[in-house]
Amino acid sequence: MTSPLLQTLGILLGYAIFCAHIWRRHRAGVSETEGVATSGRGPDCLVCYASQNGAAERHARGTADTLRANGHSVRLLTANGLRERQLQRAQRVIFVVSTYGQGEPPDNGAVFARRSLHRAEDLPGLRFAVLALGDKRYSAYCAFGHALYDGLKARKAVPEFALVCVDREDPDALAGWEDLLTCL
Ligand SMILES: Cc1cc2nc3c(=O)[nH]c(=O)nc-3n(C[C@H](O)[C@H](O)[C@H](O)COP(=O)(O)O)c2cc1C
Repeated sequence: MTSPLLQTLGILLGYAIFCAHIWRRHRAGVSETEGVATSGRGPDCLVCYASQNGAAERHARGTADTLRANGHSVRLLTANGLRERQLQRAQRVIFVVSTYGQGEPPDNGAVFARRSLHRAEDLPGLRFAVLALGDKRYSAYCAFGHALYDGLKARKAVPEFALVCVDREDPDALAGWEDLLTCL
């Protein structure tokens, strides 16, 4: 027969494993929320990245830092971590994405692309911008960035400015993106 002490320890251990699981799920979808207080309305900018090898994630983090320095409240997350309901409620979403395969989204953007790019519901209250990283040596140059930009426009979201494509992390193009961020 199991003693009451062992039963209690078992329950506590189960509870600790459950809490660790919830925490890991939270960390996987949503990484950081920082910035100016927004009276309970949530951040005014969501910065979402889809990155296979880290470049787009790095530039998303830089974008989030710039926006915070300009007084915005920012939440940084993967594109897959952006739920449809969040997208419908958001004021502004800034995407920083690369392209893989033959014009495909990176893994951490593929679920978002399937789930949200071709939905029927309009997003008229949403403003957005897209920084697309790619490489002109591929025929489907920045294809996921284009698909994202066109898909959001088709859902009646409003672009803050035209799609910005960057070939092999070209510093001039990245500096142009930084300039555009100051307009937000
Ligand atoms: C296997 C592979 C496939 C790629 N396919 C494309 C592509 O179809 N179109 C494109 O513009 N760039 C393509 N790229 C280039 C990447 O998008 C580019 O290097 C980007 O900066 C990578 O960003 P990341 O590190 O965030 O994933 C590809 C790169 C690799 C390694």
